[in-house]
Amino acid sequence: MKELYVTRALTPAAMEALKKLTDFDANTEPRPATRDELINAFKNYKAVVTRINDNIDESLINSAGENLKLIANYGVGFNNIDIKAAQRKNIFVTNTPDILNDATADLGFCLMFAAARKIVVSDKYARSVDKFEVSPLNLFGYDITGKTLGIIGAGRIGSNFGRKAALGFSMKVIYFNNTHNSKELDEIGATRVNNLDDVLKNSDFISLHVPLTDKTKHLIGAEEFKKMKPTAILINTARGSVVDEKALVYALKNKIIAAAGLDVYEHEPEIDPGLKELDNVVLVPHMGSATYETRDNMGFMVAKNVEAVLKGLTPPNLVRV
Ligand code: DGY
Repeated sequence: MKELYVTRALTPAAMEALKKLTDFDANTEPRPATRDELINAFKNYKAVVTRINDNIDESLINSAGENLKLIANYGVGFNNIDIKAAQRKNIFVTNTPDILNDATADLGFCLMFAAARKIVVSDKYARSVDKFEVSPLNLFGYDITGKTLGIIGAGRIGSNFGRKAALGFSMKVIYFNNTHNSKELDEIGATRVNNLDDVLKNSDFISLHVPLTDKTKHLIGAEEFKKMKPTAILINTARGSVVDEKALVYALKNKIIAAAGLDVYEHEPEIDPGLKELDNVVLVPHMGSATYETRDNMGFMVAKNVEAVLKGLTPPNLVRV
């Protein structure tokens, strides 16, 4: 019996790293693993490599065989896994922290620039005409350099994003984080504010970086949009459900805020059709960590966790709640 199952093929280099550890089974189809495949994996293997969109709920965890020792999530977020249920069954859960900070923060910049400077609309226009017009009145966007950036959730990725914004674009950074100060942000002179409203009211750009929990679900909804500047631009590379997506559609459609750039969605992998109709929102399909280098490195980190567990050790990137 093989010891490892991978719910969706990783990069060739990552698959190679896993192969060096043990001969394994994998879903190599270009689609997520089905529920039946997950049930089979949890019943029959010692370690399962999961993706952030695999739904690892209590009933799946309770159906696991005695043998299962590790759920190794290929991603830093782990809201897809019922951690408490795994802990009750003494199953380790691991993630891939830190190595994707740059890639995910950098995607935040792609979204911020694309939304602020109407890059997608401008690209569509440039392709649609034989000769483009250099209009003195068209395709205006918003300045970024020197503006105020509000960070909500100053953990690893939020701090990385804020630091680059301050150092690269002279942005004034304010942040809301209810547990602790961010050393990285304090070092660049950012201001930690005491309540969410201060970020909402004072920021030109607002970037979300909180994990999805019961407390952060719909943290940003109709009331919060009303507190933002009408010129505000919202960036979300965290989790879709942190924002009430219907309220976001309303806010964008009715110009309560100026624009948004989104990597994540409330009902992934679906995107609200209302968002798709709007040209003041830039939409990308949850690709924060999708660079060649980062996806390889995430795979190597997963392999280190698998290796530890196959040797009977505690994995290095253990998630605890
Ligand atoms: C993750 O890995 O959780 C993030 O969504 C990266 O984009």
